[in-house]
This record gives sequence, C-alpha cells and structure tokens, in this order.
Amino acid sequence: MGKYDFDKIYDRRNTDSIKWDFGMQRMGRDDLLPLWVADMDFKLPDEVIADIVKRAEHGIFGYTDPGEGYYGPVKSWFGKRHNVTIQSDWITVVPGVVYSIALAVRAFTEAGDAVLIQQPVYYPFSRTVEVNHRKVVNSQLIYNNGRYEIDFEDFEKKIEDNQVRLFLLCSPHNPVGRVWSREELKRMADICKAHDVYIFADEIHSDFIYKGHEHVSFLSLGEEYYDRLIVGTSPSKTFNLAGMQVANIITPDAEVKKKFRYENESVGYSQPNVLGMVACRSVYEKGEQWLDELLDYLQGNLDYVREFLKEKLPKVKLVEPEGTYLIWLDFSEVTQDHKELEDIIVNKAKLWLDPGVIFGRESALFERVNIACPRQTLKEAMEHLYEGLQP
Ligand SMILES: Cc1ncc(COP(=O)(O)O)c(C=O)c1O
Repeated sequence: MGKYDFDKIYDRRNTDSIKWDFGMQRMGRDDLLPLWVADMDFKLPDEVIADIVKRAEHGIFGYTDPGEGYYGPVKSWFGKRHNVTIQSDWITVVPGVVYSIALAVRAFTEAGDAVLIQQPVYYPFSRTVEVNHRKVVNSQLIYNNGRYEIDFEDFEKKIEDNQVRLFLLCSPHNPVGRVWSREELKRMADICKAHDVYIFADEIHSDFIYKGHEHVSFLSLGEEYYDRLIVGTSPSKTFNLAGMQVANIITPDAEVKKKFRYENESVGYSQPNVLGMVACRSVYEKGEQWLDELLDYLQGNLDYVREFLKEKLPKVKLVEPEGTYLIWLDFSEVTQDHKELEDIIVNKAKLWLDPGVIFGRESALFERVNIACPRQTLKEAMEHLYEGLQP
C-alpha cells in the first residue's frame, strides 16, 4: 500500500470542469461517463495543496516573475527524471504548451508556409497551424501490426515537396502512445537539420512512461540541433495542473529564444500566473513519490483494460501504449462506419470519449480513452462499453 490513494473517487461536478460539467453544452446531454480530455481525476498531494493555500492566504497577488526559487526545481526535475541539464535562461514561462506552439508557428514560419505533423496526432496541432493561416502537411504514421511507426521516406519527401519550415513533434505521442527511441528521434532530427526545419518537440507527456520504455528528450540528442529547437514542457499533464496555466518552454539557442519571446511579447503576455508558479514549483519539489505511485496505478489500469478487452471484447483492439495515460482503441473489427461507431459509444455505451476522426481522417475507426481515473470509474466505463457493443 502506497502513501497515496488513487482509488478514491472525488465528485468533480460543479467545479466548472470541462471533463465533468460541460456535457450538455458540448454533447447535448449530461448522462455520459467522461473519459475524453487529457485531465486526471486524482487529487494532488496534501503538501502541494498546502503550498498553494499558504500562498493564497498571503492575500496579495501582484505581478510576479520566476526567480531561481522557481527555476531550480524545474531544472532539477528534468535533471533527475530525464537526465537533461537545462539552464535557467533557456526557460520561458507561458500559460500553456498549445499557446507556445502558436507562438512558434508565428515566430518561425510566415503565412502560407508549410508545417509538418504526424497524424493521428493531438488535434490542436493542425488547428493551431490552420488558424494561423499556415499549411498543414501530414506525414501519416504507419499502423503496422498494432504499432505505429514513422515512414521516414515520406517524412523527408513531405518536407522537400512542401518546403516545410517547422515540424511539430509529439514525444511521447498522443494518441498512439509511442515513446520514440533515440534512433527514431535522431533520424527525424537529421532530416530536419538537412532541410533547415525548426522542430517544436512537445514533451508534455514525458513523465508518463510504462515499464520497459524510456523517454529521450530532444534536448539530449546533442547541441548540434539546438539552433532550430523549441521544447514544450509543463507540469500540467504530470500533475493535472491544466487549470493553473503554467508551462515551461525550453529554447537553448539565444536566437531561437529571442524570436520566440518576441512573439510572446507581441501578444501582450509578460508575467506568469502566481498560483501556477507556486504549484509548478511545489509539484516538482514535492511530487515525485506521488508520481511514482501514480505510474504504478496507471500500469494497473492499463493491465485491467487489456485483460477486459481480451476476455470480453476481443474485437476491440488495444494499441499497446509505451507512454501517456491515453489509450487508443481500434474498432475496425466492430464496424467500418465511424458514424455507427460514434452512435455505439455515445448512445449505447453512454461514454464520452475522443473519437479517432478528430486526430486525423485515417483514424476514424479508433477511439481515445483516458485511463487516468480511479479503477472503479474505469471498470464502470468498460462495463458501459461491453453493454454498448451487445447486439
Ligand atoms: C500533446 C499535448 N500537447 C499539449 C497539450 C495541452 O497543453 P496545454 O494545456 O499546456 O496547452 C496536451 C493536452 O492534452 C497534449 O496532449
């Protein structure tokens, strides 16, 4: 028995949670069990809550900047957990990783330029490119024997044919759960370097790695890639702090940092959210044991789903994740019609999942399921799915 109780169910309704309170608005009904958005149903350690409360009780919330007291814990987290050395002046604190992707799109490309992504991928990647009037170029990941791989020939050809300026990498990859190997990352890095392509490495899921796998940070590939590199990190997935609006964007190269910060200034952003900074510092200082126990718990959730599907729903295929708390289910043996699949999930199973089609057209027969919830909730969800799939 660990120190933390991840089995405990908290009622998140009436907290303005987008996961729990907006069913009516977003789905037209409020009777669905939500396992969609990447947001966990676990409570933070008391020590962290106490730090936030203590700062709140101070009662004065003026402009606040990060100092060494903030950077120190951020740097030591990445040193300890990912074996990378970061310098304080490489870090820019912003409200979110998606926000920083938008800044990078503006900083390193012009209107009409091509930006490369690898679908199926986290849907704000394409959206952020489109709303900034750039062109989305997709190098589809290959789904091979239940595993996703990079088509390197296509990757390079798409860059050449479209004069791609920026590549948005998801590492680990949401939703397919791949934890990219050093060789894969290096190969992508070399192709990008050869064609002067900037890389935004979104490493927001890097703390969720299953046993037998290891996250390789792009920062560890070598200084020769720094002159076109932006790395997105945040405690917001690891510790479920999305509502705190804090992310640490790493740019080791002074020129890249200058361009990135210029865009940040151009939208009028300067000092970060004070409670977000307190929370970030606190989780990186005090949250390690909580995370280690959480990782064991998630491994248990994953094992549970795998067994359940094998025994009761063998037509639903789990794409075995190497990282992230999001699982990617292949329903192509259940139906070939994605509208029918949606009907099953929503109207029959009464589940609120993320339909595969939003991650890219070719993944319309998949569903993304968030397993970062108490086991009991997950069991209920699997029972719902079972019921929904009965003829
Ligand atoms: C790959 C990826 N990047 C970014 C985000 C969101 O980050 P933020 O809330 O900091 O914008 C998510 C959230 O699910 C994600 O999966």
